[in-house]
Amino acid sequence: MAAKFPDGFIWGIATSSYQIEGAWNEDGKGLSIWDVFSHTKGRIIDGSTGDVACDHYHRWMEDVELMKDLGVSAYRFSIAWARILPDGKGKVNEKGLEFYSRLVDALLERGIRPFITLYHWDLPQSLQDIGGWANRDVAFYFAEFASVVAKRLGDRVKHWITHNEPWVVAWIGYGFGHHAPGIQNHKVALQVAHHLLLSHGLAVEVLRDLCGGEAEVGITLNLSPVHPASEADIAAAKRYDGFLNRWFLDPIFVGSYPTDMLELYGELAPDIYAGDMAIIGRRIDFLGVNYYSRSVVAHDEDLKPVKAKGVKVEGAEYTEMGWEVYPDGLYELLIRLREEYRMPKIYITENGAAYPDEVSPDGRVHDEKRTNYLRKHILSAHRAICEGVNLAGYFVWSLMDNFEWAYGYTKRFGIVFVDFESQKRIVKDSGLWYSKVVQANGVIEE
Ligand code: FCB
Repeated sequence: MAAKFPDGFIWGIATSSYQIEGAWNEDGKGLSIWDVFSHTKGRIIDGSTGDVACDHYHRWMEDVELMKDLGVSAYRFSIAWARILPDGKGKVNEKGLEFYSRLVDALLERGIRPFITLYHWDLPQSLQDIGGWANRDVAFYFAEFASVVAKRLGDRVKHWITHNEPWVVAWIGYGFGHHAPGIQNHKVALQVAHHLLLSHGLAVEVLRDLCGGEAEVGITLNLSPVHPASEADIAAAKRYDGFLNRWFLDPIFVGSYPTDMLELYGELAPDIYAGDMAIIGRRIDFLGVNYYSRSVVAHDEDLKPVKAKGVKVEGAEYTEMGWEVYPDGLYELLIRLREEYRMPKIYITENGAAYPDEVSPDGRVHDEKRTNYLRKHILSAHRAICEGVNLAGYFVWSLMDNFEWAYGYTKRFGIVFVDFESQKRIVKDSGLWYSKVVQANGVIEE
């Protein structure tokens, strides 16, 4: 065997609520910022919405069976806050809780461990109406949401992720405006990032209290090694690393924001109340890492906020997202996390690639490039384990093709193909391959 993983290694698959569920206005669900954003003309590249998406809200049982056939040991999914609390706080919608409770039971009956992400970007619109994450109160409403969900599911769910990619929420949502709620204000983005981190810390305590001592609680960050495009760009790379990685890792694992970045941001830096950093720095049981690519950056005097821009590498291979295929970056990142931070266990909570898939005349989807991408990244993760990194699991993004945010349905990340007209699912070749990896607990030389 090319790479055998430790016994008990978790092989999973990931999705998120807005990207797959559909049923945007059913069973008492409130509006989320993504409902509003996708219904706004010009926001989504193909003019689509997540109104139906993969219709998972109705086809969830079929999807659970699909996971069982793939043989995965865990499923990472997120909870649509507005299904549970239609106004974001206050009144609880029992039907929303029931949906996730049934899903959890069906997973457990099939030996699939649920990993719940509480926030994967679909904030209730009612909370956006009071400023969204820019409003400090929302951090406390998030803790309330965590408590409602944990009270209902905490007896059965033992893996909890507070947030998915706070950098993306803050910067793409509030800083650059490509995602909901579509705000473009750098100062607000940094305040949002602080409130997201604060809400994380508040939720950690709630989850610990309500889910029992054996529950694991963590957060998922999007992290990338940052490489300078040339010798002249070394300082730019350091700034970009502070912007993307250290701004989130340091508060969580060191208890403070990086001083070089505080200095660089100057008056953009967030308001921090006494006691916030201790809440944010509360001990967690694992770090979730989403890894897709590295960042290669060059100095750019005009580019705010950190005077650094991403550049393409000549001759390199790119996915359909325009992201460089760089598996060594995963190894580099995992080693760095261990060397620079006091790391708890790590799960790779997302890794995957978009390619333009098609159904062949034989009825199958021959997505060799995706299989190669996954293979190389899994091998890279294995190298890190061999060097002592405490990596406990790996989740492919994604179980199935879905609504890829501002790209609508134009990018396919699934290891299961979805025909959005008929809602038919077809396991792609990469899915068949991944299934073998799970079964063998490693990559077999072919
Ligand atoms: C990540 C998101 C996930 C998906 C992938 C491609 O940033 O967490 O929802 O969009 O990228």
